[in-house]
Amino acid sequence: MTAKILGVGGSMREGSYSTRAVSMCLDVAGTLGAETRLLDLRTAGLPMYQPREPATVDIVREVAEAVQWADAFLLGTPDYHGSMSGGMKNFLDYHWEEFAGKLFGYVCASHEKGLTVMDQLRTAVRQCYGWSLPYGVSVHGEQDFDLTGAVINPRLSPRLNMLARDLLIYGALIRGQFVRDINDRERDTFAARYGPQA
Ligand SMILES: Cc1cc2nc3c(=O)[nH]c(=O)nc-3n(C[C@H](O)[C@H](O)[C@H](O)COP(=O)(O)O)c2cc1C
Repeated sequence: MTAKILGVGGSMREGSYSTRAVSMCLDVAGTLGAETRLLDLRTAGLPMYQPREPATVDIVREVAEAVQWADAFLLGTPDYHGSMSGGMKNFLDYHWEEFAGKLFGYVCASHEKGLTVMDQLRTAVRQCYGWSLPYGVSVHGEQDFDLTGAVINPRLSPRLNMLARDLLIYGALIRGQFVRDINDRERDTFAARYGPQA
């Protein structure tokens, strides 16, 4: 079983802990058979979303292509005022139906576990008919990493391993069933509204 996983780093901070954790998790998913890509919003230069503005900027088209490509997503963000970063919210604002029938996992860099942050990510994803893993992984940068970015908390790697494994397995299951439902043109399914006759 395999899945294409797009990791999104939502921090604008060089040396970001949340983006580092996303990258580590993608590496594990890759060893388990996933195809992975990382979209680092710090360097991508994604402009502020403008409704009804045609995608004239290359990066907007490239990000849209990566979102279409993905079966599952791993969103990483710092905890900013108990919520996600502006960069992450801006990324989400670009997309809607492309998230439907796809699974999302979450990583948050926080000093307070980031529970409200991940709840707000789940709310945004649910609004787009995406599915969320019922847990997320929070990292406390200064306690979990040393100054070189190496992991010093032995409990972090098992959590990221679990997240990678679950995102791959459940991501493939959910996406696979969603595509089967569309192709079977079943009217009585959640996927029907996205199918050719929806
Ligand atoms: C504008 C701003 C708001 C923040 N708000 C919170 C907060 O509400 N709770 C918290 O635990 N940390 C907060 N922090 C700290 C960051 O979440 C923390 O430094 C995190 O490790 C940054 O993640 P990053 O390394 O991925 O950029 C805030 C930091 C900034 C710059």
